[in-house]
Amino acid sequence: MKPFVYVTKPIPKEVEEMLAEHCTYDIWTSRERIPRRVLLENIKEAEGLLTSGTKIDRELLCSAPKLKIVSNNSVGYDNFDIEAMRERSVIGTHTPHVLDDTVADLAFGLILSSARRIAELDRYVREGKWTKSEDDESLFGTDVHHQTLGIIGMGRIGEKVAKRAAFGFDMDVLYYSRSRKPEAEKKTGAVYTDFNELLQRSDFIVLITPLTKDTFHLIGEREFRQMKQSAVFINISRGQTVDEKALINALKDGWIKGAGLDVFEKEPIETDNQLLSLPNATLVPHIGSSTRITHVNMLKTAVKNLIDGLQGKQPRDVVKELKEGGR
Ligand code: 8YV
Repeated sequence: MKPFVYVTKPIPKEVEEMLAEHCTYDIWTSRERIPRRVLLENIKEAEGLLTSGTKIDRELLCSAPKLKIVSNNSVGYDNFDIEAMRERSVIGTHTPHVLDDTVADLAFGLILSSARRIAELDRYVREGKWTKSEDDESLFGTDVHHQTLGIIGMGRIGEKVAKRAAFGFDMDVLYYSRSRKPEAEKKTGAVYTDFNELLQRSDFIVLITPLTKDTFHLIGEREFRQMKQSAVFINISRGQTVDEKALINALKDGWIKGAGLDVFEKEPIETDNQLLSLPNATLVPHIGSSTRITHVNMLKTAVKNLIDGLQGKQPRDVVKELKEGGR
């Protein structure tokens, strides 16, 4: 008998076909996020769960006693309660590699938009405010090329950002990570730097670290105050890696010049969030991996992991904390 899998979001046909070959399944087909209560009702018989962002905690695991594997359709897995999954021997997988270039492209989009004020000046044009000529100082931005970029979190995506910066924009690249990355240094010329020094020296700072209890509010008032007043801060990691109140103060009071944000402490962003009224912030709705091809490739990776797990094979992308001996 084929194992039963629950899918918490709509998926394209070609992905559903992959799933159908090996599993029976049910899919939450609404574009609205599945209510927790409904999810818990629907996973009672599930051996596999294909999801992203859903909290996988003790409550959920108790509601799904047959669950063998949770396949996250995302590279980030801060939604996993690792201890609870370990206790019940539930496998957890994610989708690294396939989205690296796509997310790095967005990082550069945010860098360019923030530096040259693209989103802000788009509004200026549309609102019929274009009365000044291009040599008017009020329209000036800052250069990206030949500036210094600091990357916090030099994983696969960080390395792709470094490559674009070094070879596309002739930037000097600094990075800070838990461990040194000699390969990335060799490939991109990025220089390993102390955390505080990176904050002080960088013209652009890209945050792309996973959210863990160690990185929660990694960037707050102390860190923003160390940055150059001309610095632009980009967050493509998770909203909670930044103290958003401190970020708002930094942008309002000119501790830094601007920010480009793909992620927020609360998503979707609340309508009274002060970031919405700050012209020096470029805001996009968590679209780091949102291109059609990458979306499908992530899902195919996630389904492959799911099927392997259900068939008793070791999936390729088990998260490191849940690998044999992993901590
Ligand atoms: C995902 C992400 O697309 O992969 C991640 O960690 O943040 C996004 O790129 C998102 O979680 C929805 O699947």
